[in-house]
Amino acid sequence: MTGSTQEDSFTEHFWRDPHGALARTRETYPVREVDFEGGRTWLVTRYADVRAGLADERLAKDWRSSLPAEERASASPGLPAPMSHMLTSLDPPEHTRLRSLVTQAFTARRIAELRSRVEAVAEELLADLPEEEPVDLVARYAITLPMVVISELLGVPEIDRDEFARLSTILIDECPEPELLRASTQMATYLEGLVAAKRVEPDDALLSGLITASDEDDRLSDLEIVAMAMLLLMAGHETTAVFITNSVRALVVDDSARQRLGSPESVPPLIEELLRWLSPALNASVRFATQDLEIGGVEISRGASVMLSTGAANRDPARFEEPDVLDPDRNTAGHLAFGYGIHRCLGAALVRLEGEVALAALFNRFPGLRIVSEPAELTFRRSVHVHAPRTLHVLLGPRAVD
Ligand code: HEM
Repeated sequence: MTGSTQEDSFTEHFWRDPHGALARTRETYPVREVDFEGGRTWLVTRYADVRAGLADERLAKDWRSSLPAEERASASPGLPAPMSHMLTSLDPPEHTRLRSLVTQAFTARRIAELRSRVEAVAEELLADLPEEEPVDLVARYAITLPMVVISELLGVPEIDRDEFARLSTILIDECPEPELLRASTQMATYLEGLVAAKRVEPDDALLSGLITASDEDDRLSDLEIVAMAMLLLMAGHETTAVFITNSVRALVVDDSARQRLGSPESVPPLIEELLRWLSPALNASVRFATQDLEIGGVEISRGASVMLSTGAANRDPARFEEPDVLDPDRNTAGHLAFGYGIHRCLGAALVRLEGEVALAALFNRFPGLRIVSEPAELTFRRSVHVHAPRTLHVLLGPRAVD
């Protein structure tokens, strides 16, 4: 393996082959300063360092936590509202208070109750797809399925979902600041309107639940509700869509793994290994050192930004044997695909359910599915967080006879 170069961090090399780039970085400079969004960040790639970092209270999400107390109150958040009010940008006690209000909706038991609805959505989407001509699986299935599910959970009307997916992609990918601000404002304005409408006409979905909780206990401001809705909508479909898309790419060429989709008890371990192997959220969002500290023997100064790479950690040979091999029989315990610690993914149970249903429905109905996009034709999103081809054309072929 050749040494890691600066090109490996967040340039064309990375978008095309993030696992290769991260592996080179982990082997040569496991804690390395790289260019990121016009500044510098420490990229942390070894499993032990990433896991410890995710649990380290000295690494805060709100950069203001790294300032001396007297400067904190007057400092600007560094992110536009409502992004600055999202769980992903907050530290305790605000983080604890807001997270506790939505945790209940995402428990494994509540999510399990959604199985039949997710199965029905998958079936409806597949029934609409042409079988004898190429179809873009990203737009017509991988994005749509989690988008419909999270929208229904929150109570977002059907007509607005495509626009939402478009804005969300702008917010997650690398793009010029003015465009980002425009997309964020557009999404926030829409959600403010939706919150106002739900106040007048509540339903039994999560957004109305958040409004009721805030009315009763005066605990959530409208800005906080909008921020939560925006985060859940984005987090709720983006990474899951990437997970479904890349799982399809992997399973099409791996007969033995794909065959496991035929027996329900083999599906959960396969999903868990796909989560480890793909790490659909490659790098956690940045954290800030609230004091001088050391990570993997490297000095990090107070105020420095730190990016913990769950993707690199999940393929660290010091933690997982032959980590680049997709092996559904391996013990995946301890993988970091959903992070670790207080910011651990709220949607883990939902992702597992959607992954199981989406992949089993697709391959069990269309066992002859093949990808028609040539690998060289695929273009990838420019994102440090997700490795995602923008489109993936497949030919479904004949439907299996029940
Ligand atoms: C394959 C799909 C997904 C993956 C790999 C994933 C991964 C992650 C990771 C690694 C984090 C922690 C980030 C950090 O510590 O900086 C996270 C946080 C989060 N995820 Fe997911 N996620 C997925 C899907 C979802 C879904 C479907 C939802 C919807 C409910 C969701 C909601 C959240 C939220 C709200 C947080 C922030 C939690 C907090 O800051 O307290 N995610 N996710």
